[in-house]
Amino acid sequence: MANDGHLDVLVICGSLRKGSYNAALARSLPRFAPPTMTFRGAPSFGGFPVYNADIQDSTGFPADVMALADAIRAADALMIVSPEYNWSIPGGLKNAIDWLSRLEQQPFEGKPVAVQSAARGLLGGARMQYHLRQSLTTLDVFWFGRPEVIVNFAPTKFDEKTLELTDKPTMDMIKAQLAAFEKFIRRVSGK
Ligand SMILES: Cc1cc2nc3c(=O)[nH]c(=O)nc-3n(C[C@H](O)[C@H](O)[C@H](O)COP(=O)(O)O)c2cc1C
Repeated sequence: MANDGHLDVLVICGSLRKGSYNAALARSLPRFAPPTMTFRGAPSFGGFPVYNADIQDSTGFPADVMALADAIRAADALMIVSPEYNWSIPGGLKNAIDWLSRLEQQPFEGKPVAVQSAARGLLGGARMQYHLRQSLTTLDVFWFGRPEVIVNFAPTKFDEKTLELTDKPTMDMIKAQLAAFEKFIRRVSGK
């Protein structure tokens, strides 16, 4: 955690896909952020085994789980950028949350968390956002509510070749959200 007034935000992307719109959205964040906010990509949850208490009991927490937990603990806040799968949280991301939640000092407690979603469908991942809010509320995060960033019909909002965000209203939404999230982080963390 930074002590100089600058805010270190860890970004967790819910998609592992190389050409992911959500990863592209996550990459665009620095362009629209207040100058005191910086973003760091989280260590991947792609290698986590499917949660099984027997693994936890026999060999302990996998190193990848500990790496992500440490990164979350070290950050001032989290930004989760994710698609929705079948109207909910993608399985890999939910599995990561399940592993992290079993740690003795689970790393989400007291963290300010904001979410963004991009999806091909009409609701742009909004249903995933509600489900994520539900899961993380039980883990005692400080959930940031509004303004929301929901990117629907994602293929129409990014350059087909470069995956750069091209949609002006989406850019404005992100700017407004990050400005408000900065204030929210300072309010709840006292930084
Ligand atoms: C398993 C699966 C389930 C999906 N379910 C939804 C859905 O419920 N709503 C939606 O808008 N898109 C859904 N999609 C389409 C995604 O929005 C699309 O694949 C998107 O590109 C995924 O995000 P990404 O580009 O960051 O990987 C689904 C895709 C997959 C692979």
